[in-house]
Amino acid sequence: LVLILDYGSQYTHLITRRIRSLSVFSLCISGTSSLATITDLNPSVVILSGGPHSVHTPDSPSFPDGFLSWARSHGVVVLGICYGLQLLVQRLGGDVRVGHKQEYGRMEICVDKPSALFPSGKVGKRQVVWMSHGDEAVTLPDGFHVIARSDQGAVAAIENPSAKFYGLQYHPEVTHTAEGMETLRHFLFDVCGVEAGWNMEDVMEEEIKVINDTVGPDEHVICALSGGVDSTVAATLVHKAIGGRLHCVFVDNGLLRYKERERVMETFEKDLHLPVVCVDAVDQFLTKLKGVTDPETKRKIIGKEFICIFDAFAQELEAKLGKKPAYLVQGTLYPDVIESCPPPGTGRTHSHTIKSHHNVGGLPKDMKLKLIEPLKLLFKDEVRQLGKILNVPEAFLKRHPFPGPGLAVRVLGDVTEGNALDILRQVDEIFIQSIKDAGLYDSIWQAFAVFLPVRSVGVQGDQRTHSHVVALRAVTSQDGMTADWYYFEHKFLDDVARKICNGVRGVNRVVQDITSKPPSTIEWE
Ligand code: XMP
Repeated sequence: LVLILDYGSQYTHLITRRIRSLSVFSLCISGTSSLATITDLNPSVVILSGGPHSVHTPDSPSFPDGFLSWARSHGVVVLGICYGLQLLVQRLGGDVRVGHKQEYGRMEICVDKPSALFPSGKVGKRQVVWMSHGDEAVTLPDGFHVIARSDQGAVAAIENPSAKFYGLQYHPEVTHTAEGMETLRHFLFDVCGVEAGWNMEDVMEEEIKVINDTVGPDEHVICALSGGVDSTVAATLVHKAIGGRLHCVFVDNGLLRYKERERVMETFEKDLHLPVVCVDAVDQFLTKLKGVTDPETKRKIIGKEFICIFDAFAQELEAKLGKKPAYLVQGTLYPDVIESCPPPGTGRTHSHTIKSHHNVGGLPKDMKLKLIEPLKLLFKDEVRQLGKILNVPEAFLKRHPFPGPGLAVRVLGDVTEGNALDILRQVDEIFIQSIKDAGLYDSIWQAFAVFLPVRSVGVQGDQRTHSHVVALRAVTSQDGMTADWYYFEHKFLDDVARKICNGVRGVNRVVQDITSKPPSTIEWE
């Protein structure tokens, strides 16, 4: 195991991902974890991440007392990156001071002479790297050597090979560091002697074993399938482990996309053979949503209604089985559970948070279900790889994210007004199908149409019309936290607008949303 102690750098998750991409298992925990937490994980390598702090700030985060002597006595290799290097230097008795020149961005460093971290022939004598630091190491602890310096003369890399302690002042994990991946590869395989071998087949086998060890032979498990990648892959994995003792429910709340119910049910039943009940709750949801225009109230109503249906499903199951289901499957992913040391002012917390949309609207408090979260150590792209091994169709795995409240947040205002939902479904289908036909679907993070509660004047045939306006939204993004609007070619937009106005009754105007997030959000409500 390669363990990463997180001190709040925006790149910490990237270190974890880069190492996993080399088929080595890595985990990230808070940089202030206790010594027992660290030693229980039995890592062979520990990486101290970067972070926004200065080692001189009171209460700046650090590893626990005894960590370095434990590492030394157990032959554990320690690599400090950026703030991690400075921590290492300071805690071992060296000197870190506020740099006279701060170094941010792309820089060149010069490797002094061949060393364990930079042997000749592995990386260039001059390297372009990504720096982001204010403080600098000025006096190194006993046994350390400077092995590279920046053009300004600041320490860029250090090592003490006999103690197995290393430090990089720059970020090898970011792509701007040209030889970063090569440096990490050399560090892990040659310096640390780590063996590659972590792969999704093993993850699948391990998770299946964990599920079988957890769920007793006569216990039952329930799962709410949303039609999204995470819950589908999680359910498929649990099904592979316990078969018919898994019971899934899919709710048609009337807020789904064009033919969504038929399409996802076909995947669940035909491709994945999942035991799934489809509940038709269209009237139930739309009755409750009638006349409601406030977005948050809509969300609350949808969440509450979902819980009622889920509760009823669990009760029916209890009546049928003669016992309560004991577990609930959730598609929680690793980024949602990573404990981290929060950079000041970012609002990140140490707490174990689960995004509300993974709960598909929250859970009834009195259900007392224990959770099974088989994806909680995986990133999204790893979940897709796992899904592939589990034979989840590729097209399904690549679907754009879809919000839990569905089209309710894409029909602005009252969703039951006129035939807004039907119009939106048709427009959305034309837009998405055109994107797929143009081969653009996989380059876009999310694309959809929005129904605006306004009418505008138009002329169709010889008639004046007073019809609806729809907006098209397509964005690129890494994680949905920030987003850029997608640049379509004019010809593409022209074709789509024509198809929509000619094909969907009640629409005479199409506009495109050209705002990024921030200042806008991805959804309109
Ligand atoms: P925003 O609109 O906040 O969206 O920029 C970021 C991402 O989250 C999705 N989203 C939601 N997902 N329940 C969900 O399950 C919601 O209430 C919700 N609101 C937004 C949105 O589609 C985008 O991917």
